[in-house]
Amino acid sequence: MSQHAQQPASPAPELLETQVAVVGAGPAGLMLAHLLRREGIETMVIEKRDPESIRATHRAGILEAGTVDMLVDSGVAGRVLTEGHEHQGTSLRFEGRSHHIDFQGAVGRSVWLYPQNEVFWDLKEASERDGGTVFWSADEVAVHDVDSDRPGVTFIDSEGAAREIRSRILVGADGSRSVCRKAIPEDVRTDHFTEYPFAWFGILCQAPPSHHELIYTRSEAGFALISQRSGDVQRMYFQCDPAEDPEDWTDEQIWTRLQECVSGPDGFRLKEGPIIEKTVLPFRSYVCEPLRHGSLVLVGDAGHTVPPTGAKGLNLAFCDVRVLAPALVALLRDGAEQPLAGYSAAALERVWKAQNFSYWVTRMLHRSREDSEFDSRRQLGELHAITDSPYGRAYFADSYTGWQS
Ligand code: PHB
Repeated sequence: MSQHAQQPASPAPELLETQVAVVGAGPAGLMLAHLLRREGIETMVIEKRDPESIRATHRAGILEAGTVDMLVDSGVAGRVLTEGHEHQGTSLRFEGRSHHIDFQGAVGRSVWLYPQNEVFWDLKEASERDGGTVFWSADEVAVHDVDSDRPGVTFIDSEGAAREIRSRILVGADGSRSVCRKAIPEDVRTDHFTEYPFAWFGILCQAPPSHHELIYTRSEAGFALISQRSGDVQRMYFQCDPAEDPEDWTDEQIWTRLQECVSGPDGFRLKEGPIIEKTVLPFRSYVCEPLRHGSLVLVGDAGHTVPPTGAKGLNLAFCDVRVLAPALVALLRDGAEQPLAGYSAAALERVWKAQNFSYWVTRMLHRSREDSEFDSRRQLGELHAITDSPYGRAYFADSYTGWQS
């Protein structure tokens, strides 16, 4: 909740003008503003939350090499290279055995474990350092006139003053519950989505790492993911019912379930410790088509969401930004409309590849109550087809580390 001054908001909003207004100061919105600022394009960002609460929200932690390059090459921060951890592979674990996928050996690329909240913080610091304009803790954010070439966004700022920003382009980077997306009229917008009958139960615990890379495991007790945060804090997940209440689970029950998910003839066990956070994370697959309408453009979760299993969310958002930033520069500096006209189709091509990968990995590793013995055996056959063949491993590695084409 934002804290606003008590006096009533002024009836005449203060009008500001800029070239690009970005709604949402998550990683996608801040990265776009950062790239545009470097090209001399004036940008203002409006965000309904405050930076500390965004930083405290735990999100996935895997960055593709292309995402790391964007952070480093654009001068956001090199902290990802010193504080992040390079992972040259991952393990798929099933039937109680781990099968290593060597990303470097298969496709010559790695991924980095560096939590999304740290990416956000680096971008926020870069914005402050470079004199970027961000209105944090904005209330009553609404967008207007997206069909015109002077779209607007109105809001109440953190001091309680009514404001209006008019720009040439309005970017919706406001996450999966986007208000911007709703400004695309229903008769031109298609919402593609699919739901899953499970969610993730996520924990943070105080314990040493159980392994040096991630372990994605499929077991009779369902899916689990063993990830890390630091030398003494670990992140783990197991599949649960979307209606599960995390408070109904004791630490002991959580550890019993996680150990059951990873147990096997090799005797592998997780290192346990006090659980310092537990949350149920529902997910779905969603794509908005098109990603642009008039002067409004969507990036990241505002335009598409994926299940977390493929670790694609933030990476996909950065891919949008990588296509959109030069298109906006071409429009605003040279008056070239063509690149922006191609944005939606170009971004959606990668979005659908990532949708397919995230859906596929989710379905391959989770158990459903309705699964028959046939479904279960078929799933194991699918996993073996990946792990037992250099081509299968290369397919997985190419997708997980982020396609180069
Ligand atoms: C995480 O570390 O939180 C994480 C890593 C990989 C995923 C999802 C979440 O696929």
